[in-house]
Amino acid sequence: MRLQDKVAVITGGGSGVGRAASLLFAAEGAKVVVVDYQGVYGKAVGQEVADEVKAAGGEALYVETDLAVEEQVADMVCGTVEAYGKVDILFNNASHGFSSPLTMTTLLDTPEKDWNEVIRNNLNSLFFCTKYCQPEMVKAGGGSIINTASSNALVAVPGADAYTAAKGGVVALTRIMAITYAPDIRVNCICPGTVRTPMIADMLAMLEDYLKQNIPLQRVAEPEEIARVALFLASGEASYITGAIIPVDGGWTTM
Ligand SMILES: NC(=O)c1ccc[n+]([C@@H]2O[C@H](COP(=O)([O-])OP(=O)(O)OC[C@H]3O[C@@H](n4cnc5c(N)ncnc54)[C@H](O)[C@@H]3O)[C@@H](O)[C@H]2O)c1
Repeated sequence: MRLQDKVAVITGGGSGVGRAASLLFAAEGAKVVVVDYQGVYGKAVGQEVADEVKAAGGEALYVETDLAVEEQVADMVCGTVEAYGKVDILFNNASHGFSSPLTMTTLLDTPEKDWNEVIRNNLNSLFFCTKYCQPEMVKAGGGSIINTASSNALVAVPGADAYTAAKGGVVALTRIMAITYAPDIRVNCICPGTVRTPMIADMLAMLEDYLKQNIPLQRVAEPEEIARVALFLASGEASYITGAIIPVDGGWTTM
């Protein structure tokens, strides 16, 4: 029970890595706020995950929120504090897709509205969640923020240019946040490689064998393998780690 009595806000908690983290954090004793919306999968996936957590004996609340809209994020944090009294952990995990036509374009092929959409859903969401959760974490006596970037932020993968810019921003902001919010709050960043989630299901169906050839561990990650790193960073076991940018990619960026 590494997160006993902690309150964890997990953005994008309705799918993939966020779903795995919601289940895992709750199993470790946290009260989990699953934050998601219907804009990507067309249904309240976050409600399904909150129900799954409760069915497993954990405590969870689904708060439907478009994370790219500041007022909705402010309301979500108010709702969290009303329900659970505080915020200890913020997992900035949500993102608006990697392999969609919106994200898989080079700069020269990217209309401004698509660029803005990708930045809004990857970077503004982290900005707003941090802005409203950080003061609550200070009131609670400290906490842990885990940001999610991507291996795309560490090595050049042409063809997802706006997404890469957003994830590069997440890495840079992690360092600033770590310094600014120390010593009360630790801030770290996970850079996943290829993870078997709904976000990239179509891409994996076509390219999994090819992708595996370039990963030293010769397989893609399961969402739980990213969630377990987030759990470690959220817990007291990572008490002396802040500002770290951690690749979790089966060795892909080492090649
Ligand atoms: N899957 C991969 O291979 C991979 C690789 C590198 C990085 N990542 C990163 O890991 C994180 C988790 O991705 P995943 O693969 O689990 O994706 P996913 O699509 O399974 O889950 C992302 C969730 O975020 C939610 N979301 C997106 N925009 C939102 C918004 N504006 N408001 C509310 N909810 C919103 C979606 O509805 C979805 O439920 C993302 O930051 C992603 O960029 C994933």
